[in-house]
Amino acid sequence: MYGFADCGAMYQTMDRLSRRQKHCLGVMDIQMWEARSNTDVGEHEEPVNVSDQSLCITPPRDPWRSLQHEVAVCVRCELHKTRAQTVFGTGSESADWMFVGEAPGAEEDRQGLPFVGRAGGLLTAMIVALGARREEVYIANVLKCRPPNNRDPLGVEVRECEAYLHRQVAHVNPKIIVALGRFAAQSLVKTTRPIGKLRQHVFTFEGSEIPLIVTYHPAYLLRNPLDKRKAWQDLTLAKRVLDRT
Ligand code: URA
Repeated sequence: MYGFADCGAMYQTMDRLSRRQKHCLGVMDIQMWEARSNTDVGEHEEPVNVSDQSLCITPPRDPWRSLQHEVAVCVRCELHKTRAQTVFGTGSESADWMFVGEAPGAEEDRQGLPFVGRAGGLLTAMIVALGARREEVYIANVLKCRPPNNRDPLGVEVRECEAYLHRQVAHVNPKIIVALGRFAAQSLVKTTRPIGKLRQHVFTFEGSEIPLIVTYHPAYLLRNPLDKRKAWQDLTLAKRVLDRT
């Protein structure tokens, strides 16, 4: 584990940001780019609608499909009794970026997709601000089922579910994993240390060499917008780590 100095000004020196990226940096309250001429790449693109959750799931290969099926019919813990459906994950099976949240909420339980509520809109903006598209990253949760009333996941639920996430990581083999929020961070780093002590460090995902970065959960950031700057520092750290892999 090693720390990094502040990297929040990353985009001050980047000279080719699309309008879409700038818009999403604005949503992140990061407005550090320099004014460019209208010859910039993407100058005529429409601003992204961050609540647009259009998703693209690449055609599954067999082991992936069988994992999806196992999750869909899972009864390993009590959560199967209260869920509307499981939420497997979404995105590209060959993604460089993998984002891991806590567990589905009410809207995710209804739609069967991760991060489709308001927090999902902010997560999309964070991804686009990084220069990626939502459909080219992979998004999953530690738990595949919604805990009733959005209570914190129980230890037994995490233990029964974690092999699914490990198999997802093994299949996608991302270049970097970003844990979103205290719960995902503590589960993936296997610690009880507070999130403030986990961010701005580079861990590795258990049993692999895949770098793992911790940042705040988008739902937390919606309630605490002043911390978006810290989240942006975490994301730029993740991008630097990814860029040197
Ligand atoms: N919060 C999460 O952690 N995951 C989701 O999928 C939605 C909200």
